[in-house]
Amino acid sequence: MTEQAPLLRLENITRNFGAIEALRGVSFDIARGEVVALLGDNGAGKSTLVKIISGGLEATSGRMLFDGEEKKFNSPAEAKAAGIETVYQDLSLCTNVDVVANFFMGREIVKRYFGVPVLQEGAMYAAVEKALANAGTRIPSLRTNVEHLSGGQRQAIELNRFVHWGGKLVLLDEPFAALGVEQTRRGLDMIKRVARQGIGVVIITHIMAQAFQVADRMVVIRQGKVAGDVARDQTTPDEVIRMITGEATIGRAGEARAQA
Ligand SMILES: Nc1ncnc2c1ncn2[C@@H]1O[C@H](COP(=O)(O)OP(=O)(O)OP(=O)(O)O)[C@@H](O)[C@H]1O
Ligand SMILES: [Mg+2]
Repeated sequence: MTEQAPLLRLENITRNFGAIEALRGVSFDIARGEVVALLGDNGAGKSTLVKIISGGLEATSGRMLFDGEEKKFNSPAEAKAAGIETVYQDLSLCTNVDVVANFFMGREIVKRYFGVPVLQEGAMYAAVEKALANAGTRIPSLRTNVEHLSGGQRQAIELNRFVHWGGKLVLLDEPFAALGVEQTRRGLDMIKRVARQGIGVVIITHIMAQAFQVADRMVVIRQGKVAGDVARDQTTPDEVIRMITGEATIGRAGEARAQA
């Protein structure tokens, strides 16, 4: 692993479903601490790409380098072990236990007294309290069962847990589809805080305002290819819409090329 290498590099990723070419050679990098918005029309190939990165689908061809090393994840669990997590609204929280238990699921702090394992409730509670406070997330009580928390609070716990356990790249596929205005705003703030800790973020959204609010870079996928890859401060929502519809393409150099 080298510090100079991008966090994730995609090289010529393709994916066919029978005769359908869902991805036709997608290449781009994601840096540490960078938020990339993945944009594109319905069926462009965004979810397929995210699933390939997170081990849910195999690429037909192409290479993926994570932390400078060529990687191929055969399952979401393998990707997760390497530090790649996909967040949907409720993903993987256990709703019938409290916030602390969810945070430590499978990693409980246990001390042995005369050979008898004893759960270190106090230490676990303090660690979760600290992690959430650092991230600026407020949950009424860490003893609340997750079933009583809102979608946004669940996402916050999910993301913070991921950061706490050394996650490196988060993939969010339309994470705010079911959330209200205020929860969405908090979610976007949380993404920025997560990125400030050096974590790479990919967010799929159809809402241009969200992309411009949170992302450092816009990558537009059109018909399975990159139709635009541009820094947020070098483009506009109108231009991105034109990339989505195929009226314009824009490369890494930043120069727009109108299409005949
Ligand atoms: N499991 C599958 N089997 C067959 N075709 C698939 C499968 N998954 C995706 N596709 C096809 O691949 C293409 C890309 O789909 P994908 O779900 O990646 O699009 P998307 O950009 O996420 O769209 P949306 O914005 O609607 O979520 C589509 O033509 C879709 O029908
Ligand atoms: Mg999709």
